[in-house]
Amino acid sequence: MNSSKKIRVAVLYGGRSPEHEVSLQSAKNIIQYLDPSLFEVIPIGIDKQGTWFLGDISQDKQLTDTQELKLLRDDHRQLFTPDWIGKSVVPRQASELITRATKNQRLFDVVFPAMHGALCEDGAIQGLFELADVPYVGCGILSSAIGMDKDVAKRLAIQANIDVHPYKVIKHNQWQTQAAELCQQIQKQLGFPVFVKPANTGSSIGITKVKTPDQLPCAIEAALQLDNKILVEKAIDAMELEIAVLETPSLEAEPIMSVVGEVKPRHEFYSYAAKYLDEHGAKLIIPAPITAELGAQAQAIAKKLFTILECEGMARVDLFLEKSSQRIYFNEINTIPGFTQISMYPKLMSASGISYSELLTRLVKLAMDKHCRRSALNRSYCHDIE
Ligand SMILES: Nc1ncnc2c1ncn2[C@@H]1O[C@H](COP(=O)(O)OP(=O)(O)O)[C@@H](O)[C@H]1O
Ligand SMILES: [Mg+2]
Repeated sequence: MNSSKKIRVAVLYGGRSPEHEVSLQSAKNIIQYLDPSLFEVIPIGIDKQGTWFLGDISQDKQLTDTQELKLLRDDHRQLFTPDWIGKSVVPRQASELITRATKNQRLFDVVFPAMHGALCEDGAIQGLFELADVPYVGCGILSSAIGMDKDVAKRLAIQANIDVHPYKVIKHNQWQTQAAELCQQIQKQLGFPVFVKPANTGSSIGITKVKTPDQLPCAIEAALQLDNKILVEKAIDAMELEIAVLETPSLEAEPIMSVVGEVKPRHEFYSYAAKYLDEHGAKLIIPAPITAELGAQAQAIAKKLFTILECEGMARVDLFLEKSSQRIYFNEINTIPGFTQISMYPKLMSASGISYSELLTRLVKLAMDKHCRRSALNRSYCHDIE
């Protein structure tokens, strides 16, 4: 395919989120492995203030394993800043670099948001793509927002008769006025240990395992630094199971369910350090050492969650298999899961017969199909007056 016919994929990385650094790792592999016979990659880095910069198109695809994807924050690479919204004049001329790249057309055909966390995975940026009428990979606004909010996702799971381990929600204002009472309620209703977590973060950021009542206020305050809503969850002694789900192009067909994998943290729990800082922080076991029956049960729960949470494109469903009861509980859903080649989502798909490159191709095509279907919808309504 000659380069003018290739689909131009903007891979977005970084972002205004605590998971900015994690995104650089996910995006690097996506940029490297998007099939060059089908796609032209347009790397776009978003800094921690939310400004978009054109990456180095010629260099980024060639990065080696030890090199890092960089944000090139110089003025003539600047593409967009949310600060421009509402201003009458865009405060800068597009640089020659960008006009040359676009020939006054849109710079890309489809967006692959390789970003995690708030403002990146929670429907915010997906809303921007909808407004701009640009196809984008993965979940839409609604499922992105639901998937990000651990409390809302759990409430919908409960409504669908999926088991959820007991938890309590605390909002910022409640903690300001009733801290002591809330601590007592937690002790009585949940006991210890508990996990304290912000409702809307990922990568275990802001999560503390609390073993005694005296540690609770500190953990709650730490989580409230990151979100106005937090969850306090009864700890479960469980295997951590993960399933990758991929939509199929045919709307009638069921989503593809991967084999079930297990994450076995070597730390106290699957913390940020176990995920990213310690090379041996966790073992990913594929397939998980569970019976075929439990595997099928986990896949059925994951499929149900993908459907009831209105997911599109992809999601990774994380479950707990309680050791004592062998009961499966829903933990969380990730609508933009970690995406390095050695991350669980691509590894599960690969173990299920879909290679990393093939997975990327499928996701981009799904995004374009979805955009076509949505574009065919009627956006105006003519009502005949009798
Ligand atoms: N209720 C719980 N019981 C036992 N471990 C938990 C519980 N909640 C969280 N954890 C541990 O903390 C990790 C991160 O929590 P999780 O809710 O998945 O947040 P994140 O979105 O940051 O990954 C889990 O993978 C698990 O190791
Ligand atoms: Mg998790």
